[in-house]
Amino acid sequence: MQDKYIDETKQGEAFAIAEKPTNSKKLFLESYGCQMNFSDSEIVASILNEQGYNTTLNQDEADLILLNTCSIREKAEQTVRMRLSQFKNLKKAKPNLTVGVLGCMAERLKTKFLEEEQLVDLVVGPDAYRDLPNLLKETDGGRDAINVILSKEETYADINPVRLGGNGVTAFVTITRGCDNMCTFCVVPFTRGRERSRDPHSIISECQDLWNSGYKEITLLGQNVDSYLWYGGGPKKDFKNATEMQKLTAVNFAQLLDMVAVAVPEMRIRFSTSNPHDMTMDVFTVMAKHKNICKYVHLPVQSGSNRILERMNRQHTREEYLDLIRKAREIVPEISFSQDMIIGFCGETEADHEKTLSLMKEVEYDYGYMFAYSERPGTPAHKKMEDDVPAEVKQRRLSEVIALQGALSRKRMESYVGREHEVLIEGTSRKNENQWKGRNSQNAVCVFDKKPGQKLGDIVTVLVYGNTQGTLLAASE
Ligand code: SAH
Ligand code: F3S
Repeated sequence: MQDKYIDETKQGEAFAIAEKPTNSKKLFLESYGCQMNFSDSEIVASILNEQGYNTTLNQDEADLILLNTCSIREKAEQTVRMRLSQFKNLKKAKPNLTVGVLGCMAERLKTKFLEEEQLVDLVVGPDAYRDLPNLLKETDGGRDAINVILSKEETYADINPVRLGGNGVTAFVTITRGCDNMCTFCVVPFTRGRERSRDPHSIISECQDLWNSGYKEITLLGQNVDSYLWYGGGPKKDFKNATEMQKLTAVNFAQLLDMVAVAVPEMRIRFSTSNPHDMTMDVFTVMAKHKNICKYVHLPVQSGSNRILERMNRQHTREEYLDLIRKAREIVPEISFSQDMIIGFCGETEADHEKTLSLMKEVEYDYGYMFAYSERPGTPAHKKMEDDVPAEVKQRRLSEVIALQGALSRKRMESYVGREHEVLIEGTSRKNENQWKGRNSQNAVCVFDKKPGQKLGDIVTVLVYGNTQGTLLAASE
């Protein structure tokens, strides 16, 4: 199972415990949606840790319940509404319990949330988490509280996230927030606001801190990492591993990636998400230069048809996308790709759908995240286009795309068989406690028998002897 998106049909993940012995209050924090939400929840836990809250996995003992929500598709919002209704009895039994909604749904619905969901006391958008202590004073006084102000500057750069629910080996590091791309189907620019890049000094120091605390892999996160651009360089601090940075007045994503790879030379580095329109060749050059940068790019395309790409305002053509993939493979021969596809966007014909299938066959993606188009209120597509592909047609096309991706994934997995791979041990296999699970550089999940002396966080060489559609079966040396 790859975990770029936590399937919103499942329940969100409640985080493990962040303890501070002097804290007496309990926070139950559940996250839905993309990796950024999970990363944001670590910032929220950090802020609330300073306000007397330790996290708990038991909702019954919580003084404060927070859901960090996703608006990307209607189904994601429905899941949160259903989850909220489950807290009704808890609230009846415990009148002092505060229930809050964070993240994209909070931002999209604003005060409507307080009107529609009687249960909700607190609504906080993704740029307003620093205000949580004040907002909680309001709710403690029995009043509803809301802050959904979006910021052009907030990057939470100085907040040290409490690492929650993880394995102590892999971590997310946020490098940009928001998105300026305005794909016509997408609610993110409205819920997460304008794009802004975090100070590279604080990124590098977070990566170094993670290495010093035993972490072995980081994923640099942003809605669109390739448009990372930080102005205002000049020396701020003396980083022994990144002295070059002091000479720079602006830092782009390729430069940042290069600096991170140098600053933590043994840390495995991944990044997500890339946008084909903003991706530049120098990113691939940097990937090829550093052994510790994983050879994997998640490169959403959404459709294989130029007509649909234009309607989606993706700002590139099918040909440009294929050219990017071809050049990337020249520079980084062992690179793997995964995709996001939206099936049944406004005006999509059978011919457009065929183009999506043919593009997938040309690229031979390792993996894919595929969804039927879900109209989002307020987006340009909602305002200017008609959601005219019937639901059953969307579902039929979606199942064709999923079946094709299954076959392509199997083919890619087969290509790894008989070869040695370096795998980071990330935990015990869910199916067999005598086996480890981890991923190779190309992000393929790999399981293999445990051997004495091996431990979580080790990078081991394995020989792959077989595969399923999504997993490599291997033996360690
Ligand atoms: N750049 C972001 C993209 C966020 S949206 C990132 O970090 O991943 C994630 C994916 O959700 C998109 O790539 C798209 O495939 C899908 N998506 C976005 N809006 C959608 C909609 N209205 N209906 C269906 N899928 C959507
Ligand atoms: Fe959404 Fe397009 Fe940005 S998919 S997050 S508007 S790159």
